[in-house]
Amino acid sequence: MAVGALPVQSDPTLVADIRRYGTFDGAACYQCGSCTLSCDLVDGEATFPRKSIRYGLLGLRGPMLATLDPWICHDCGDCSTACPRHAEPRISMVTLRRFLSAQYDWSGITSRLLQSRAWYLGSLISVAIFTFLLILGYHVWKVPMTVGQLATTDLGLEHMVPIITYYTLVVVLLPLALLLSRVLRVWHWTMADQQIPLSAYAAEAWTYFYQSVTHSLMRKCPEKGRWRGHWMLACGTVAMLIIKTFGLRWFQTDKIYPIYNPQRWIGYLAAGFILYGIGDILVGRWRAQKEIYKETKFNDLVFPVLIVGVVLSGLTAHVLRYCGFGLSCHYAYALHVIVATPLLLIEMSFGKWSHMVYRPLALYFRAVKERAQQQAPAPEGVPNAI
Ligand code: HEM
Ligand code: SF4
Ligand code: SF4
Repeated sequence: MAVGALPVQSDPTLVADIRRYGTFDGAACYQCGSCTLSCDLVDGEATFPRKSIRYGLLGLRGPMLATLDPWICHDCGDCSTACPRHAEPRISMVTLRRFLSAQYDWSGITSRLLQSRAWYLGSLISVAIFTFLLILGYHVWKVPMTVGQLATTDLGLEHMVPIITYYTLVVVLLPLALLLSRVLRVWHWTMADQQIPLSAYAAEAWTYFYQSVTHSLMRKCPEKGRWRGHWMLACGTVAMLIIKTFGLRWFQTDKIYPIYNPQRWIGYLAAGFILYGIGDILVGRWRAQKEIYKETKFNDLVFPVLIVGVVLSGLTAHVLRYCGFGLSCHYAYALHVIVATPLLLIEMSFGKWSHMVYRPLALYFRAVKERAQQQAPAPEGVPNAI
């Protein structure tokens, strides 16, 4: 028997594989069902979140790779609070998301980074150093100027706009292209075995965009401010990505604008949204009182800390420029590019940020499956209502 292209056989190594990505304490579970009763994602099918955890314990690698459930779980923590055995089903779902991200990545890089703190940190630092060398090389060979001149000359920001425009396109579009290449793999594992008409994919396409924009499932979280903070963070980040990719010439300028100019207030608004959202997360993780912040792994912190670094270095460059400190602004700007590059190249491609593609994708595929089931003709002699 097979799930799509994946055989259904018990694989005793699966649990050990999953545990390389974090805590997966399914053995404590005695299947009482309290987690399922507490989970607001359960609608008729009384298996959430136990099904995925069971796949792991039974060594069912094929069904595990074919499941979308860990991406649909919005990490509210109700199941862990309800669990009488302290089996921490929420944390198991977090671990499964890391495990699945690694399986989706055909290059094997995600797997290496998520299993080893040294590799993770090493890759972030290497990309940052490489970016620094690129900035240095550009000025020394392309401008050209000596390192001494570079360290003491205020060149303004506009001189780098042409090269940074191409650079930004590469560091934003490359991780997105990598993520899209994995979407094919996810589709193959989760959907390819089912005879789903193209019309179902087309009819539900809006679900992908709707979920990307609203993150509406998170609103079900009992922690009400969480959705607001996350939504503001995502809006601010996406707005900045769009401006930097398509409107850099307008945004990165040496001109001084009045406060009411959209170039300024759009930038302040986006930075404010990001800092509000990220502050909410970091304070929560620091206090570690709520169920959702009980366990903080190294890679849970890398993403928010990098975002803070990018926003603060960008704001510093902006303030220094408006205060007339052109040379210091140049240094702050270089730091901004040096922190932003690993955020985009590592975190978006291989780290936690990849969820911005996987989560809406899972919700989209689930909606497609449901639509296809509704459209399927009922078996002969059995009315549709049954
Ligand atoms: C630019 C887009 C996005 C950014 C910058 C972003 C940022 C983040 C960050 C920093 C976290 C970690 C929160 C923590 O550590 O507690 C997070 C978690 C989360 N995000 Fe996003 N996100 C984005 C897009 C999305 C989308 C499109 C969805 C859903 C459709 C989504 C759903 C979630 C959920 C459910 C969590 C909590 C579970 C988890 O930590 O994995 N996010 N997001
Ligand atoms: S509540 Fe705990 S013990 Fe009960 S089924 Fe869920 S994970 Fe298992
Ligand atoms: S963390 Fe929340 S959404 Fe996820 S399985 Fe548990 S109860 Fe359901």
